[in-house]
Amino acid sequence: MLIAVTGGLGFIGSNFIRYILSEEPSISLINIDAQTYAGNPDNLADIQSKKNYTYFKGLIQDYHFIEDIFRNHKIDAVINFAAETHVDRSIASAQPFIETNIVGTHVLLELALKHKIKKYIQISTDEVYGSIEPPQKFNENSPIKPNSPYSASKASADHLVRAYYKTYGLDTVTIRCSNNFGPYQYPEKIIPYFISLALENKKVPVYGDGMNIRDWVYVLDFCSAIKLILEKGKTSEVYNVGGDYEITNIDLTKKLLKLLGKPESLMDFVKDRPGHDRRYAMDSTKIKTELGWQRKYNFEQALEETIDWYKSNKAWIEKRTKALIT
Ligand SMILES: NC(=O)c1ccc[n+]([C@@H]2O[C@H](COP(=O)([O-])OP(=O)(O)OC[C@H]3O[C@@H](n4cnc5c(N)ncnc54)[C@H](O)[C@@H]3O)[C@@H](O)[C@H]2O)c1
Repeated sequence: MLIAVTGGLGFIGSNFIRYILSEEPSISLINIDAQTYAGNPDNLADIQSKKNYTYFKGLIQDYHFIEDIFRNHKIDAVINFAAETHVDRSIASAQPFIETNIVGTHVLLELALKHKIKKYIQISTDEVYGSIEPPQKFNENSPIKPNSPYSASKASADHLVRAYYKTYGLDTVTIRCSNNFGPYQYPEKIIPYFISLALENKKVPVYGDGMNIRDWVYVLDFCSAIKLILEKGKTSEVYNVGGDYEITNIDLTKKLLKLLGKPESLMDFVKDRPGHDRRYAMDSTKIKTELGWQRKYNFEQALEETIDWYKSNKAWIEKRTKALIT
């Protein structure tokens, strides 16, 4: 089986490539990544010389570049991780989000159809649903109400995916996931960002009152969900994946500081992000009952291991902090 992964040099994509190649060594894999500020070849340093791994550098919205790859390889499935992913950057400038997340997805769908690729999997996000009050959770039928340029671009892509199934019969699946954490996450996202700042005894900027709630899933649990969907996911379906671990940003920050042995006085409450969603919470009943997915990792333990990874990879962090929006 030959899988084409896009965005495989980023956080989740690189974890997924390492995971699937170790779980299924007979699979061959093509990684298409533009190497933006978030795409980092170091993330796959241990994989790059494997015979069943090939890397192509380029943009998913470049039709001729993607067409060359799809024409010259007998690809069985495309998994589209490639995206501009940072909400704050989308607020500063939405254009790259439109180009990659919407136009790029369209190019992949169009060429998957043209080259008769058997399966197309779109990696999407809980953020397309907007914000939700407790005790409700998002299920796959919740209305799509994105609030940031990032989530609006991801929602647009999801609609295109749906349309390519409904209109042209392309075999598609959409996976919407909650906040991931783990190794190799670019240090502009809250967990690696706060770890990197606190390790240097710098203030960690908490947005607004810090009471925004996120539902966290360890990246390897998400990777196992994607693999299961690749094997057993039903055509045209959407699957929600969450970690069943909700925590306010303030409590998450306190937990991180405690585990790092740093004082809570490092917390600095800053002006809230515009359009900041108050709460995300995923109902993962469908993937659990229909496909038998189960989380393997415990949040507390995975968080400690994640902190240990960043502590022992300070050089990895330092190389990346220059491009940060702070
Ligand atoms: N990180 C999360 O918590 C989370 C949660 C839910 C969904 N998602 C989704 O999962 C996917 C991966 O997220 P991530 O956190 O690994 O992102 P990331 O920002 O770490 O990595 C994105 C990757 O895509 C590549 N890329 C960007 N634009 C490209 C383009 N035009 N052409 C080719 N490659 C391009 C980058 O070089 C990078 O390697 C995204 O689609 C994101 O929306 C992420």
